[in-house]
Amino acid sequence: MCGIVGYVGPKEAKDVVVEGLKKLEYRGYDSSGIAYFQDHSIEVIKTKGKIIELEKKLVGQRTCGKLAIGHTRWATHGRPTDVNAHPHRTPRVALVHNGIIENHAELKQELIKKGYEFVSETDTEVLAVLIHSKLDEGLTPMQAVQKSLAAVEGAFALAIIIKGAEDQLFIAKNLNPLIIGLGKDEMLVASDISAIIRHTNRFIILEDNEMGVVSNSGCTITDFSGKKITKEVKETSWNPTLAEKEGYKHFMKKEIFEQPRALADTLSDIVDNERFRINLRDFPLAKEEIQNISRIVIVACGTSYHAGLVGKFFIENLCGLHTEVDLASEFRYRNPIIDKHTVMLLISQSGETIDTIGALMEARARGAKIVSICNVRESTIDRKSDYTIFTDAGPEIGVASTKAFTAQLMCLAAIALFLRQEINGKDHHMTTKYVEELLKIPGAINQILGNDSAIQEIAREFFNYRDFLYLGRGNNFPIALEGALKLKEISYIHAEGYAAGEMKHGPIALIDEEMPVVVIAPRDRYYQKTLSNLEEVKSREGIIISLGTERDEKLMSLSKAYMSVPPIDELFYPLLTVVPLQLLAYYIADFRGTDIDQPRNLAKSVTVE
Ligand code: G6P
Repeated sequence: MCGIVGYVGPKEAKDVVVEGLKKLEYRGYDSSGIAYFQDHSIEVIKTKGKIIELEKKLVGQRTCGKLAIGHTRWATHGRPTDVNAHPHRTPRVALVHNGIIENHAELKQELIKKGYEFVSETDTEVLAVLIHSKLDEGLTPMQAVQKSLAAVEGAFALAIIIKGAEDQLFIAKNLNPLIIGLGKDEMLVASDISAIIRHTNRFIILEDNEMGVVSNSGCTITDFSGKKITKEVKETSWNPTLAEKEGYKHFMKKEIFEQPRALADTLSDIVDNERFRINLRDFPLAKEEIQNISRIVIVACGTSYHAGLVGKFFIENLCGLHTEVDLASEFRYRNPIIDKHTVMLLISQSGETIDTIGALMEARARGAKIVSICNVRESTIDRKSDYTIFTDAGPEIGVASTKAFTAQLMCLAAIALFLRQEINGKDHHMTTKYVEELLKIPGAINQILGNDSAIQEIAREFFNYRDFLYLGRGNNFPIALEGALKLKEISYIHAEGYAAGEMKHGPIALIDEEMPVVVIAPRDRYYQKTLSNLEEVKSREGIIISLGTERDEKLMSLSKAYMSVPPIDELFYPLLTVVPLQLLAYYIADFRGTDIDQPRNLAKSVTVE
């Protein structure tokens, strides 16, 4: 949440920073701003609204030279206004911040007593004023930053510029991510890789309680007391074009259509094609330890949580291991029962969701082994886990997650099969059969995508309705939740996902001729029961949009609209059934003219609790 960019180098710094902010806009987009030096004074330009508003304000501004910092905000403390937008400044200091300064109220009172004034409602401004006060005491810029960091409590990623140190960027990190991009005669600072890959693929990751001074000739990293730290330089293989729209109207649509590629790539890393086995190289548990696993606890947030709910079906069905699924924000504050035979399975696209990181730390303290499914290499969750299986989805920019979700399902199926191989090595033949089914999935998704104009027509018919209900059973109940989440996130239509069998315990009261009900009913073991639920909807005048397997005449005859997926082993239907629901939500939102890639109030990477 909130994106930070900094640049030092020969290019026009404010252009590089604004272009980087656009790549980070998915992290928050209610206001943005930039700071740089002009004639040895700090210039801050900031505004409420998206980065396009900032660009308008920057038209006609003089060139700024070689150093700038910028920020795109997702408001926590203080409404999204011009004044509350970052950078926050004093005459001598300007800074951008991602995170929350928890003791901001006490620090502010002390500074007010000393005669300092404040203009915003934010927690961040206090840090700018604090650093300024330390400069007033005669400290050097570096000492002022160090002393101030020692006084603050909370989470932060920071980029700071200080008058008198005009060729240097000061940076610091605790809990919120920050990386340094190493270019040729230029250096960048950013919340994540997508903002820097156009300039360099080499980067350094700042760890908690590290700070640094960055200039165009390099950077020095220390702890907050000034002790030097040697850092490893990493390289990313992400290609800059993956973060471009490439002719699609929205990133979300592009990402929906990238799913066959994303899943094929994800599979190619983990399937041994000759033996049709799952190969998780260097998995941290030996065979005997796997055989002694008492429980798997899956923890995640948002769409990744829905993937976890499907994962429970994979693991329980394929390897008979007791599996629980929990929301990270709940798990970390319960008193979870975890022991050394528990495997914690975390799922996170970004690898930076603060609640999921909190759950990881809690489980680690209780002795669990931590295995993660993650889309971003070198993210916090990847680095803190014992083992990471990567979704090869590439950068996901649309706030509503699509390709990362199906890639997570693929990894969950692979983990389940791997554990099955280790627990019950003998039934090679069944594993092969399941692996063959997984290999069919990219092609099957291609088939569904080939039919998108039919789904667009359904969206045209229904985009004006106010409420939707999504029903599914068994492993498609999480897909009902996910379908409803996709619709509400991007179209702002109220939508609820429900277990079809639970409908009679409440939601049935909502059904009338104004309520479209999306029923997920592929030909699986639940099919007949779901059909009965569908009849219950129909007899109460509900409007049925059904989703079945190929041409299902029975379903078609009961439905106002019909979508389909190709047949597959019933365990893996969620990898297919979610795709028409992503398209349905996308086209409904498109007809309503909403901001699909950046829906109001949401952010892609949630780094506050
Ligand atoms: C936000 C995003 C969702 C995502 C969730 C969890 O709410 O908008 O798309 O599913 O965070 O994020 P993670 O990166 O941990 O999967």
